[in-house]
Amino acid sequence: MAFETEIDQISALAADHPQNIALQCFDANYFRSLTENLQKRVLYCMKSGIENPDSEMGCYACQPNDYDDLRPFFAQALAVHHDVSENARHENNWSLASVTGMPENNQLDFAILGLPALSMRVRVGRNLANFPMPAAMRREDRIKLEAQMMLAFAHLAADPSYGGAYYSLTPGHPNQISEDVYRALIDDHIMFKDMSNDRFLNAAGISADWPFGRGCYVSEDRSFIIWVGEEDHLRIMCMERGTVLNRVFDRLKHGLDVVSAIDGLAFAQSQDYGIVTSCPTNLGTAMRASVHLPLPNLTADGTAERVKEIAKPLGLAVRGVGGEHTPIGKDGTVDISPSARFCITEAEIVAALYKGVARLKAEEDLA
Ligand code: ADP
Ligand code: ARG
Repeated sequence: MAFETEIDQISALAADHPQNIALQCFDANYFRSLTENLQKRVLYCMKSGIENPDSEMGCYACQPNDYDDLRPFFAQALAVHHDVSENARHENNWSLASVTGMPENNQLDFAILGLPALSMRVRVGRNLANFPMPAAMRREDRIKLEAQMMLAFAHLAADPSYGGAYYSLTPGHPNQISEDVYRALIDDHIMFKDMSNDRFLNAAGISADWPFGRGCYVSEDRSFIIWVGEEDHLRIMCMERGTVLNRVFDRLKHGLDVVSAIDGLAFAQSQDYGIVTSCPTNLGTAMRASVHLPLPNLTADGTAERVKEIAKPLGLAVRGVGGEHTPIGKDGTVDISPSARFCITEAEIVAALYKGVARLKAEEDLA
């Protein structure tokens, strides 16, 4: 029988690592029932979680149709991570009018909560349907995808409401930037970090061929940004300092519509699961809506532990000011975002962020 060694290895790892969802959801009977080709695809998706048994999710999609083709495996993993049923179906909806209990005119204005201007950001992941997912791309695919996106960026640059330019990390690319410019873009929270230091992405193959095919489009006013070649083919985002969350949400939707309408760009989507992403944690909306919120009282001990205690039951994730796996700001600023991505709508995510910030502000005032 093929892959019996792998089956034994996964069973042994699963016994020692109960938090690793992919290892826990591996069913040897289902696996043995698959063709050899599908078995290889399951193992490919689980590579990162096998090499890093301390993973939480422990798997990534490697082809746009992996979630559908390997459904019995992914349905279970999604159910565990997102706390939904195995038959859950995702629906996308950006209309704030569809959310109940919203403030007047659906205005999500932090000033009403007594907050100053905050750095607000909403991002979505997108993958092109005609390429392998980042984990399975060859260097030529990464370069070809970047070249295809250059056409889209020329389109945006020619539009006066976007303008701007594309910055490439690809050696020899006409738009290649220096190390110093790259650094400055990271410091400004515009560009993504060097992925070749991430052991989860390395094991998956997602960070392979670094820095080929990597770069980022930045609009003239630096608020509309598209990453190319990070964990998903594209991460499309809008970021601005202010108090009205609707501004970044609406502008992201507008930019996304402009990009989606560009000839030849078809995004990977699943009938039942919504927007397809590399990591199952992002599936569905692929959206993370965040603010950088100063909470000096709740972080007076120099850590975010107290904030996390309050945030977790509210469905909020707490990150550092440099993003995932980074420390909180010296002034007690933390990155707050709703954890849910799947079986929630885009509109519900921003509404949840607003509500969550209101609760944290109240706790901060009491502390
Ligand atoms: P992602 O949001 O794409 O999952 P990260 O959490 O690693 O990834 O964040 C990516 C970058 O975006 C980091 O530089 C982080 O500081 C920045 N960022 C996230 N949210 C905000 C925000 N509200 N304001 C400013 N920068 C932000
Ligand atoms: N693969 C890692 C794990 O399973 C990270 C998952 C969440 N983070 C992410 N950037 N997708 O623990």
